[in-house]
Amino acid sequence: MAEVHFDCPRCGDLLDVCYDWDRTPPPRGLSDFEAKWSNRNDPLCFSGVWRFRELLPFGRPEHVVTIGEGQTVLQQADAVARYVGLNPGRLFLQYEGLNPSGSFKDNGMTAAFTHARMVTARRAACASTGNTSASLAVFCSAASLPKPIVFVGSGKIAYGKLAQALDYGALTIQIVGDFDDAMMRVQQVARQIGLYLANSVNPFRLEGQKTIMYRILEGLRWEVPEWIVVPGGNLGNSSAFGKAFAELLELGLIPRAPRLAIINAAGANTLYELVEKQGLTWNNGRPDMSRAEAHYASLDAAGKKANTIASAIEINRPVNLKKALRALAICDGVVREATDQEILDAKAKVGTGGFGCEPASAASVAGAKLLRAEGIIGPDERVVCILTGHLLKDPVATVAYHGTDQKQFDEVLGKRGVRRASFANRPVVVPNDLNEIIRAIELYS
Ligand code: F0G
Repeated sequence: MAEVHFDCPRCGDLLDVCYDWDRTPPPRGLSDFEAKWSNRNDPLCFSGVWRFRELLPFGRPEHVVTIGEGQTVLQQADAVARYVGLNPGRLFLQYEGLNPSGSFKDNGMTAAFTHARMVTARRAACASTGNTSASLAVFCSAASLPKPIVFVGSGKIAYGKLAQALDYGALTIQIVGDFDDAMMRVQQVARQIGLYLANSVNPFRLEGQKTIMYRILEGLRWEVPEWIVVPGGNLGNSSAFGKAFAELLELGLIPRAPRLAIINAAGANTLYELVEKQGLTWNNGRPDMSRAEAHYASLDAAGKKANTIASAIEINRPVNLKKALRALAICDGVVREATDQEILDAKAKVGTGGFGCEPASAASVAGAKLLRAEGIIGPDERVVCILTGHLLKDPVATVAYHGTDQKQFDEVLGKRGVRRASFANRPVVVPNDLNEIIRAIELYS
């Protein structure tokens, strides 16, 4: 494998993928991409990522590794809009859980694998709260690539995700620690034994994730919404979205960027703390990163670890912090934190009002509700919440919320400060008797 650097050897900052748009001319208008629909038997036109390849022009077609990622849906969700406090027709949910591995990660992984093939990488690795590992593993298994190595925090990932890594055949290293520990270790190991790192420190991952924004614009007939709301964990998505809009502006393909709201879980709120409480900004490319160092030192001194039911975003040291600050500057962004109670209640509303999602994804809807209540989002503004992962990723959280088992509720949710299942849909236990069953249906429907 050619030596691969994802950070600058001089300053240590993460690198960006930059294009010479004169050599790879972009389309004249975004609606030109619709022409690809008529050619869907070509895998590069079928993919919801590579359909937009003129906006991520790296690699040759023979390098591309695709498994049909990005066939995702923008759904108008009026019932959820009501919950958030928006008028009908104003809230949209972008269902990235419909990807082959059940999360948005496949958008980025296809791009990372394409780059890996360009540099003839043999073996890939990642640290993960679960979805990156599932995505890495399915790409390796579907593309008949060697067994990947995934690092997860022991007991820290939802069952659906662990099941995927195991079933797809990944070497699954369960570190006694959390995601932040696993992330540090995978970087050391990748450097030492030469593994291709598929985390979002890898700038090619972010190139693929830009396409989530293109598909949203497409779903809105190429109109720019007022708001994009996204959960924030390692901040890869937020960074990718900011880059997508900066490039579309640079190319004159959109008139303005939407505003970006990044939603942390309250139990893993580094970005919220630094941006909203301490006033950290991009500062024209010179953010005061010593504040982040001081914040991490204070977390360590207090022995404070990330802790939230939204295990996908249970991250205290986001590797893309600096790029996310840039995205906030590009998109006039804001950051909020949502409690586990708010996240789970929003998740239940997404379930009854649409296709459902995993807890971390619902942070976007909980955050939109908070911003609406503050009046920062207006009732008639068009808001798109990114639903990053599929409902079935974390059945334990969902059943603990809706179920009747108080012990399970306390063990899974109560210990995190969740007091009530505000929108619980309880299963009904009935004797095996026809009349009793019909009575129960009449009583509860
Ligand atoms: N939502 C889900 C479902 C996720 O899996 C993640 C991240 C995020 C949101 C946060 O996205 O990191 O781009 O800010 N999951 C990573 C993983 C960390 O390992 O699967 P981000």
